[in-house]
Amino acid sequence: MKIKSAEFVMSNSDVAKCPKQPLPEYAFIGRSNVGKSSLINMLTDRKSLAKTSGRPGKTQLINHFIINDNWFLVDLPGYGYARVSKSTKKTFQKFITNYFEQRQQLVSAFVLIDIRHKPQPIDLDFMQYLGEREIPFSIIFTKADKLKPKAIERHVEDYCNRLLQFWEELPPYFVTSSSKKIGQDEVLGFISDTNEE
Ligand code: GTP
Ligand code: MG
Repeated sequence: MKIKSAEFVMSNSDVAKCPKQPLPEYAFIGRSNVGKSSLINMLTDRKSLAKTSGRPGKTQLINHFIINDNWFLVDLPGYGYARVSKSTKKTFQKFITNYFEQRQQLVSAFVLIDIRHKPQPIDLDFMQYLGEREIPFSIIFTKADKLKPKAIERHVEDYCNRLLQFWEELPPYFVTSSSKKIGQDEVLGFISDTNEE
């Protein structure tokens, strides 16, 4: 897919106020600082469409962008930061779960995972949450530039083996780096293939 246009539409914390056009939508979620906003900029070939920061907790709202005038891309706040809670459920802010449960036109979520890290309970819980609600998702491993090719392979394999302990099959997954521009064609290709335009 060629990105011909990419524009910010609106930010808010209420799913009822999200854009009304019934366009297919794809949302990026994951722990704070995993690289969601950077990935959105890389995918769209825009330097600062989505705001990024070295400090976790930069994105605080549901941010809609319209791409090629025919689909929405959504940048979401990270989970797992700023709220110390024993209950993981409380860590997923209510407006984020409302978004996933109520946004009819959501085609697929992308759960971002830092490729350097071992499976973390909060990410596994979030995937479990999506699975239970039958919300389609893919995994995007981020920051692949931080590892050598062999280590990338090993980390992805370890992660997939862990998922197969409680999932019958793996979701689609992609390996990306926003700084080295790895994975753009694959992720955009997946979006084209699943976008019923
Ligand atoms: P929140 O909005 O706070 O939840 O964070 P986010 O997930 O949107 O992360 P963001 O894109 O703001 O990036 C966080 C930090 O990781 C920034 O310092 C980025 O420069 C860095 N980063 C993001 N993607 C990559 C990548 O592919 N490679 C490397 N090396 N650094 C990255
Ligand atoms: Mg962000």
